[in-house]
Amino acid sequence: MKSVAIIYHSGYGHTRVQAEAVRDGARSVPGVHVDLIAVEDHADNWEVLDTADAIIFGTPTYMAGASAPFKAFLDASSSRWAQQQWKDKLASGFTNSAGANGDKLATLQQLALFAMQHGMVWVGLGLLPGNTTSSGSAEELNRLAGFLGAMGQSLTDLGPDVAPTMSDRRTAEHLGRRVARIALGWQGPAADSGTGAEAARAVLA
Ligand SMILES: Cc1cc2nc3c(=O)[nH]c(=O)nc-3n(C[C@H](O)[C@H](O)[C@H](O)COP(=O)(O)O)c2cc1C
Repeated sequence: MKSVAIIYHSGYGHTRVQAEAVRDGARSVPGVHVDLIAVEDHADNWEVLDTADAIIFGTPTYMAGASAPFKAFLDASSSRWAQQQWKDKLASGFTNSAGANGDKLATLQQLALFAMQHGMVWVGLGLLPGNTTSSGSAEELNRLAGFLGAMGQSLTDLGPDVAPTMSDRRTAEHLGRRVARIALGWQGPAADSGTGAEAARAVLA
């Protein structure tokens, strides 16, 4: 059995809907156990995160980056960074915001760089961009045309019952399924790959 942990923040419920779609996609893959963790509960879930084969990070885009509660969690994970405890785990990410663009890419880049600091292996969305031709539509998967992770848009006057859109929810499901499928075949850290702790200590010294 492989395990996928999804950790997310949502101030107003929209990114939670996206996170649940990622979870649904991941748990549609037989042989994969999925944990969905609200970032407020992260302190009780370090062991789940430490033992997961893959961690998927999700945050709304607030002021062109991860929301403050999610950033606090990212910073708290530095205790894992020093020993490279998450090295060679799979990582991926998703974000949701009001604007069609809204600087979501900056948030996904922040999450991907964070995963690189941990020595994780980033899994991108793996979908061609949707809605890019005159015969296309906003119903297509990946209508917001991201590559690094799953993007969602929630218009500010719509509640999480209808926003993000079905296309964005299905795109999020796709991401969860993709990470879970890859996790099934993922061997994780090689026994002789080292932890990187020596190098980290040298940086800290
Ligand atoms: C403090 C704050 C900053 C925001 N910054 C952005 C932004 O940079 N780009 C954007 O498109 N939307 C921005 N928004 C809108 C949110 O991303 C949007 O409402 C999103 O759906 C909220 O997700 P949530 O319900 O999971 O909290 C911001 C909202 C808040 C409250």
